[in-house]
Amino acid sequence: MCKPDHVVWCDGSKEEYDRMANSLVKGGTFVRLNDELRPNSFYCRSDPADVARVEEFTFICSEKEEDAGPTNNWADPKVMKEKLRGFYDGCMQGRTMFVIPYSMGPIGSPIAKIGVELTDSAYVVVNMHIMARVGTKVLEVLGDSEDFVRGIHSVGAPLKESKQPDVPWPCNADNKYITHYPETREIWSYGSGYGGNALLGKKCHALRIASVQARDEGWMAEHMLILKITSPEGEVKHIAAAFPSACGKTNLAMMEPTLPGWKVETVGDDIAWMKFGKDGRLHAINPETGFFGVAPGTSMASNPNALRTLHANSIFTNCAITPDGDIWWEEMDGDEPEELYDWLRRRWTPGCGRKASHPNARFTTPASQCPVIAAEWEHPGGVPIDAFMFGGRRATTIPLVTEAFNWEHGTFLGSVMSSEMTAAAAGTVGTLRRDPMAMLPFCGYHMGDYFAHWIKIGKTGDAAKLPRIFYVNWFRKNEEGKWLWPGFGENGRVLKWIFERCNDTADAVETPFGLAPEKGALDLSGLNLPEEDVDMLLQADKDGLREEISDMRRHYAKFGDKMPSELVAELDALAARLKK
Ligand code: GTP
Ligand code: SPV
Ligand code: MN
Repeated sequence: MCKPDHVVWCDGSKEEYDRMANSLVKGGTFVRLNDELRPNSFYCRSDPADVARVEEFTFICSEKEEDAGPTNNWADPKVMKEKLRGFYDGCMQGRTMFVIPYSMGPIGSPIAKIGVELTDSAYVVVNMHIMARVGTKVLEVLGDSEDFVRGIHSVGAPLKESKQPDVPWPCNADNKYITHYPETREIWSYGSGYGGNALLGKKCHALRIASVQARDEGWMAEHMLILKITSPEGEVKHIAAAFPSACGKTNLAMMEPTLPGWKVETVGDDIAWMKFGKDGRLHAINPETGFFGVAPGTSMASNPNALRTLHANSIFTNCAITPDGDIWWEEMDGDEPEELYDWLRRRWTPGCGRKASHPNARFTTPASQCPVIAAEWEHPGGVPIDAFMFGGRRATTIPLVTEAFNWEHGTFLGSVMSSEMTAAAAGTVGTLRRDPMAMLPFCGYHMGDYFAHWIKIGKTGDAAKLPRIFYVNWFRKNEEGKWLWPGFGENGRVLKWIFERCNDTADAVETPFGLAPEKGALDLSGLNLPEEDVDMLLQADKDGLREEISDMRRHYAKFGDKMPSELVAELDALAARLKK
């Protein structure tokens, strides 16, 4: 169908990575960075029309429309495939088709799954090398099994004449389709080479297809970081947290707590797959092997461990490049360079009035290089989860931290989660939207059924062994639009309260929204926050919540009779508590 000139089976070796990176340099897609400043690393600029996930052109093509639900774009699988066959016909002319066998999760882990991505993008191959376990070793484990996800990806830019020169970032800006076939476990992606549109193991497989498998098989595939936290006494807990895209997962996963004696280590920064273990607890693995992280804002002040991770062997897309061949982005440490080339290849000087990097500029970097990667991050059985956190970007209304009364109330808080939109997806940045469990763009089936799956997991598990559920908001602002909470390493104070709540050693008070830290229970020592800021931060704004009840009802109404009665009851109970 695609009519490539060549077909290459990827073996996953270092030689393959080096060969392909070098060919990308030769073709003008990559610039090799200064080997002394950023060893074995590459700089890449995408087409300005291909810079983020495209939710508008992302489809769940389930057999029945109702299985995709009201929050997904749906298309009939036969109709969509017919249409795409038209696009795919000859789409790889003049190009090579790469066959990438990959494993999401440690090879051979009982929680891991295999996929095969066919792609005509060498950029995708080298990124997949970092982000997943790829190559021959995966085929060996797969053997004759038919149990793998089938993915096809094309940038949609055939080279018609055999000697036609290629552009640095081929794509098909006018025809992008990111399509999923949950019943047949297939992914057909066309037109975009960027991030989650093209690295099919990530959002397409590990969330959209995997969420359907998880529902069918009784486990969970979530848009969650996984962290390991150790108290000054040496006690360990694991926390998984769902925040929408560009809302702080990578930062929290590798943060350095400012509170003395506390330690955070990283298991994963974006996706968690969880299954009940023999001990009755939920165990999580990180299906990935790299971080595809938001670059702007990453600094020694905000996320030192990310910077230490990407010191070498990394790929940088859509940030800026310095005259001496290193990368730069907004809020990086030190003075602004006197001169740069921006992500649009223009000369850039400080104060010129433009951002040098795209807001969704990203680094691709190996998790194994993270100085705080947890020793058990590749443990085939995963790590036992003690607490879940939900959170979004909310300038108003939502307090710094709330504990749910129980699993169903926690599921309710996740289901009405809302966040201001970010540059991770093409669209209107700043618009407030409900993004349940940070899965709005990633749930491969009806969101009402997804809520029911959460309720079912709660009923399957033993209440005493299920993770406790918390809702956080690092992004509350005062009337002048300044952050009320310093965030980043100071978020360790909230983690400490969560840790102690799990041990029943920290106090909480009941509020209409949930359990809030009792005065003094949240360790704010040495922060010197103004009293009135603390009060504002810790309080759910009752008037604000009252005003949101009708929006929550409209949100729930969309899911019709798929909406679990337990969650409707939670919403009614919140409304009643707010009336008092
Ligand atoms: P995806 O990779 O898109 O899923 O994003 P993510 O959830 O991993 O977000 P990330 O950690 O990359 O953070 C995105 C942005 O949020 C960055 O610009 C950070 O600087 C900012 N951010 C993260 N944590 C905090 C915080 O605690 N406070 C504030 N104010 N900003 C934060
Ligand atoms: C996100 O948008 O949530 C990401 C980046 O993690 S991407 O892989 O492009 O989806
Ligand atoms: Mn993400």
